[in-house]
Amino acid sequence: MNAHDSRRIAEVLQREGYGSTDSPELADLIVLNTCSVREKAEHKLRSALGRLRPLKESREELVIAVAGCMAQEHGGALLERLDLVDVLIGPDNVPELPALVSAAQSGGVRGAAVEFDVIAPRFLTASPDPNAPEVSAFVTVMKGCDERCSFCIVPHTRGPERYRSGDEIVAEVAGLCAGGVTEITLLGQTVNSWCDPTDVHDGPSRFAALLRRIARDVPALARLRYTSPHPRHVTPELVLAHSELDVLPAHVHLPVQSGSDRVLKRMIRRYTRASYIERARALQAARPGLTLSTDIIVGFPGETEQDFLQTLSLVEEVGFSTAFGFKYSPRPHTPALKLGDDVCEELKAERLARLFEVVDRLQERHLDSLVGTRTRVLIEGPSKTGGARFAGRSDRHEIVHIDAPPGCDLTGALLDVRIVEANKRSLVGECDGELTGRSGAGGPRRGLHLPVVAA
Ligand code: 5AD
Repeated sequence: MNAHDSRRIAEVLQREGYGSTDSPELADLIVLNTCSVREKAEHKLRSALGRLRPLKESREELVIAVAGCMAQEHGGALLERLDLVDVLIGPDNVPELPALVSAAQSGGVRGAAVEFDVIAPRFLTASPDPNAPEVSAFVTVMKGCDERCSFCIVPHTRGPERYRSGDEIVAEVAGLCAGGVTEITLLGQTVNSWCDPTDVHDGPSRFAALLRRIARDVPALARLRYTSPHPRHVTPELVLAHSELDVLPAHVHLPVQSGSDRVLKRMIRRYTRASYIERARALQAARPGLTLSTDIIVGFPGETEQDFLQTLSLVEEVGFSTAFGFKYSPRPHTPALKLGDDVCEELKAERLARLFEVVDRLQERHLDSLVGTRTRVLIEGPSKTGGARFAGRSDRHEIVHIDAPPGCDLTGALLDVRIVEANKRSLVGECDGELTGRSGAGGPRRGLHLPVVAA
């Protein structure tokens, strides 16, 4: 969600004539886009500002803006506290950024725009650079959250649920696809609670109907992901969509948070361990080989060793292909504050390490089992390891590396790959046919859809 917001911020500024630079020393404006979902993210803002202090002190005309949830949460008080910051904008106020920045530049006025536009929610349409279309793009379908998970600050920072119309969503997906995007990820805090604000007579699982509509109306789209669904909105219609729509990949990220019914209740997750497992099984049965990943919080207030063991056993039972684990951190304005924070730091760290041991073992076993199989991979770009190696994601969301002939750019290619090696967190694949990607560096990536090399 934040990566998507950062792109919209960049686009709004580009329209005002800004260009981007990798070097803070050359920048006239630095925007720090923030997250406040966990405490660690707040520390990151403070240290980033600390690093920028010498620069701001040597160049007074430099404007520093803080965007996103932290700005929303603290509002104008943050301007008072952080003397380096000139401008604040909340996650719903991206269009206000240029005006606030020019006010800060011309009159040294420090300003903030942090309000929800609840009546007329604004969904900024992506306008990607036609010279470098993304391989994969996000499309927001809803904003805010009506759940009341007791640990979570999001309802406070991102406001109530507001939905975008199906027509607008389909139009944006179609536009991005026509511009060269191969994969779309529908975004929302509880993405599968989406319903069309213009069609109150819609059927029971409106999100599943949206997926069907996109599959039907944008046949050129190669892959349609969504994140993050809430387990309680995984309906039979959504499960059926996974068995019928080829455009949906064989992977769902389905945050579980805990495997203990006692903790789930205190988290106000509104499902039980058994009902989560039932839905996970239904998804796995709907599509052969479907992988599930998840989010888990350890050390939630009152979590006992028994509760934690329930989480470990749920991870094994579901067989997640990967999981993100977090130590619970108390957040302002959340109902869990009144439960205290009684699991000590050492115990949280120990439980997180034990969780990762199990998750790593499952992941390694899963990746090993894929050696010798074939899979379709969407190449996202050059691998971080460098050389002529490219990296992408399989339909099951595993990271797959592949070596290209020298000078051949595989970015954006959809390839049929044979898995030849499993690393700890990724796979290595090979193509049997000849790779004929675009030669040479630079130039537009548009239209680079290599045919899937025949098996
Ligand atoms: N403490 C720790 N982790 C949290 N998350 C959300 N709120 C908290 C918190 N207070 C985690 C959840 C969520 C992910 C985005 O962040 O696991 O799914």
